[in-house]
Amino acid sequence: MPIYLATVLDTPGDLGEEDGLRADTDLALVVRDGVIVARTDLDSARRDHPAETLVDLRDGILLPGFVDTHVHFPQVRVIGGLGRPLLDWLAERALPEEARLADVEYARGVAADFLSGLTQAGTTTAMVFGSHFPRAVDALFEQAERSGHRITTGLVLSDRLLREDLLQTPAAALEASRELARRWHGRGRLRYAITPRFSLSTTDEMLAAAGSLLTGDELGTPRDLWFTSHLNENDEEIAQVRELFPAASGYLDTYTRHGLVTERSVFAHNVHPEPAELAALAAAGAAVAHCPSSNGALGSGLFPLRAHLEAGVRIALGTDVGAGTGFSLLKEGLQAYLVQQLSGREGITLSAADLLHLATRSGALALGLADQVGDLSVGKQFDAVRILPPQGSTLGVALHHTETASDALATLFAQGTPADIHEVWVAGQEIKNGPSMT
Ligand code: GUN
Ligand code: FE
Repeated sequence: MPIYLATVLDTPGDLGEEDGLRADTDLALVVRDGVIVARTDLDSARRDHPAETLVDLRDGILLPGFVDTHVHFPQVRVIGGLGRPLLDWLAERALPEEARLADVEYARGVAADFLSGLTQAGTTTAMVFGSHFPRAVDALFEQAERSGHRITTGLVLSDRLLREDLLQTPAAALEASRELARRWHGRGRLRYAITPRFSLSTTDEMLAAAGSLLTGDELGTPRDLWFTSHLNENDEEIAQVRELFPAASGYLDTYTRHGLVTERSVFAHNVHPEPAELAALAAAGAAVAHCPSSNGALGSGLFPLRAHLEAGVRIALGTDVGAGTGFSLLKEGLQAYLVQQLSGREGITLSAADLLHLATRSGALALGLADQVGDLSVGKQFDAVRILPPQGSTLGVALHHTETASDALATLFAQGTPADIHEVWVAGQEIKNGPSMT
């Protein structure tokens, strides 16, 4: 049972709270069976736990592990397809690669690269968009079980408009989803999410099948599965969804009508919501994954953060790899900040504490895991990252010269990259990057 001694920054309160940043230097965190059992000064920790090993992490900064609420596992090898709007990017860059995961050997290599990407960026918990192929989803679960990440993922469902080799019938989707959910949901740190790709590629029949899985009506399906999909990302996409679902009152309603908007639902993007949709998301307690670098890369639009917050919608951050430009929640936080700065009167200036909250505790709240992770309070799991910039780097120099914790955090979001992530722990175990399998 180690005692970690560190400078610790976290945000245990609410998003936007004044003085929301908790900063402690020379703090001792006593960890037993992966859980923080004491948070105190070194002398008290030594006195109360004399037999424990001291791990001195005072070089650098210890943060809660990052939480990515929207990231696509099959797209790790096509990050950076710049210059196309959503539907062209899907057809030309993302979906040809996703089709390759029909080969389970290929999928295993992609899963290894994906988990390595999470680790390198300090991401310990993620809601992951899976693959259209059940064996590829198994490959991700199997490897995540070994690497230790907290992963919620599932089979991606589509029965129209995508390339043929990514489609399945609602009956086959139900059967395969049920089987995967029974095998993986609640096993260690793994959970299952029902994952229609988006309304554009799913018929009402497929969404009804998703609804029956989510409510647990399906024979033998666990009752507390999660749900994730895309929503209101791109103007062209939204117009097509409206045409395909004339009976729905809007994009969100295509999901609502099948019982898919709940407090266990996470919707990516929502860049162009109607006011009634924001009210409905808030009333349901559903969360929105804001993916600013993806929105910028695909030109999807400026995220209306203020409107979400004023409506009471829960939000968190997603990298949306591979439309997003990498796994770093530090970069995603910076991008979220920049988008707001460029949004004129509609924008909100986010503080450094807000960015850390969005990258950690907001994500834990969105994923229903805030009783376990997202900050480093007593009773929480020791999911943590140590930031230790390379000697002589401008981030290292800046951290050395900042006078307040808030300034240190701001320069970390401005300059931090995966190269500054020195160690990553999940439930008290250090996780390392697995070797790439290709
Ligand atoms: N909408 C449907 N599929 C996708 C995807 O893979 N990425 C993004 N950004 N939006 C989507
Ligand atoms: Fe996405």
